[in-house]
Amino acid sequence: MIKLPILEAHFQTPPPHPRADAEVLGIFQDVSSKHKKALSHQGPYEALIEKFRRNGCFTASHGTLSYLRFGGNDPVENVLFIGLGLPTEASEEKFRAAGGHAWQRLKQEKNKCVLIQADSFFGVKRLPANLSHSVLIRAFCEGLLLSAYEFNKYKSKGETSPSVSKIQILTHEKGLKQFLDKELPKLHALAEAVGVTRDWSNEPSNFGTPEYYAAEARKLAKQFGLRCTVLSEKEAQREKMGLFLGVGQGAEREGKIVVLEYNPPGTKNLKKGNPFKTIALIGKGITFDSGGISIKPSLKMEEMKHDMTGAATMMGAILLASRWQVPNRVIAVLAFTENMPDGNSIQPGNILKSRAGKTVEVINTDAEGRLILADAMDFAQDLKDTRGQKPDVLIDAATLTGAASIALGKHCCAILGNDDMLIETIRRAGEGCGERLWQLPLFDEYFEDLKSDYADMKNSANDSNGGTIRGAIFLKQFVRKGVLWAHLDIANTATHLGHLPYHPKKGASGAYVRTLAKFLADY
Ligand code: BES
Ligand code: MN
Ligand code: ZN
Repeated sequence: MIKLPILEAHFQTPPPHPRADAEVLGIFQDVSSKHKKALSHQGPYEALIEKFRRNGCFTASHGTLSYLRFGGNDPVENVLFIGLGLPTEASEEKFRAAGGHAWQRLKQEKNKCVLIQADSFFGVKRLPANLSHSVLIRAFCEGLLLSAYEFNKYKSKGETSPSVSKIQILTHEKGLKQFLDKELPKLHALAEAVGVTRDWSNEPSNFGTPEYYAAEARKLAKQFGLRCTVLSEKEAQREKMGLFLGVGQGAEREGKIVVLEYNPPGTKNLKKGNPFKTIALIGKGITFDSGGISIKPSLKMEEMKHDMTGAATMMGAILLASRWQVPNRVIAVLAFTENMPDGNSIQPGNILKSRAGKTVEVINTDAEGRLILADAMDFAQDLKDTRGQKPDVLIDAATLTGAASIALGKHCCAILGNDDMLIETIRRAGEGCGERLWQLPLFDEYFEDLKSDYADMKNSANDSNGGTIRGAIFLKQFVRKGVLWAHLDIANTATHLGHLPYHPKKGASGAYVRTLAKFLADY
């Protein structure tokens, strides 16, 4: 992964400032001579900004910016004004986006070392309730760090160091400096975890094989202090994972199931009666989805290298949970395999037996994600901790259905499950991160569409109506009584969220890692 920039907070000392290529000021819209304090933070630029405002060449509305070159004026040579919009309409998401805009411009201007004049974001008193300047600055920094990601390992001239390598945040406010000293390392961990998810998702499937992800997971687990075990296909056979193995049957490369475990401090050896909860994260890891015998059309088939983004998302989430030392026990089960056509592939009409014992008629070999998830979910529900306790909560993430895009477009993923409280809690965690999730219904009647004439169920229906719901109702058949479960269909949000300035223009977004980690921290 590309290195992250150094990002640190400093007390503002009297001039001279540290040397830098540029300084960044955040400017609120409609802050006039009435707001003496806000203006005083604009330092030597106060009159200039006022003039820009009057002339309409920089209004400071959200998304606008102005970059000035003073070429050679020591100590800081250039200045970037970032429009923050109206104070009354401020939000963390807007500041995250402003961080993204700032990064893009600083990168374009080839600035290596920059100063953020954090106090320039201060001085207005009309912020919405629940928002403080500290929280907004943190969101701005999150936007900067999330924007630093690049995937260029296969370009012969690809950079390994970030475009902007050092960012110093200057402030006179003791409280802000203390807050940032505590929060910036957490943001660093966040950007690193999202970076792992993006890297995994972007990896082409000739390198990103199940074996590759298993090896990477082992390395990362070691680095982050997680327990990690990997099941081979032979072991999956012993576990009777007939659906998982069926999907991989046509592939040359061997499938792997990666199991990770995070124990919060003091819970390694849980005793009977200990009330700790375990949350199991399950990820779809189809390293390439050709569709199998029900082969996909070739247009955009290259995007099916991203079909393991559910697994990548859960990897990012458990890594971040461990960095943040969340109070819940977390396990992750990542099911990696390839969906390929071959003489040995499963064929439409084949009947497979799941680990749970239920039989499935495979109508469409391209509805493979639900097959591998069903076995992985069943397996996860049997993973006992030292008390003999099985997971209390199950969350899966998968690029499961093209129908998620048709239903929701790009601005939220789909969430479904068997417990509205759990869904609402995850949805709220997402809201706090600027990641939206939208609940779709999961009435049991939807299962009617998946009744098979020859087996306990079929993996797809005869038409494409309600595709996302059908995927979820299939999975629901494998959730045991008393287990809370939520399913995230991220097929529409896993890639190409370039309309958000802190996401890469193309490729993996890493969306919902932050939501899941926040959920694991707060649940
Ligand atoms: N991986 C695909 C879903 C997908 C499509 C993800 C486009 C991202 C972009 C999944 O395995 C699939 O093929 N689903 C089918 C299900 C159908 C055959 C019931 C689909 O959505 O068409
Ligand atoms: Mn498919
Ligand atoms: Zn798929």
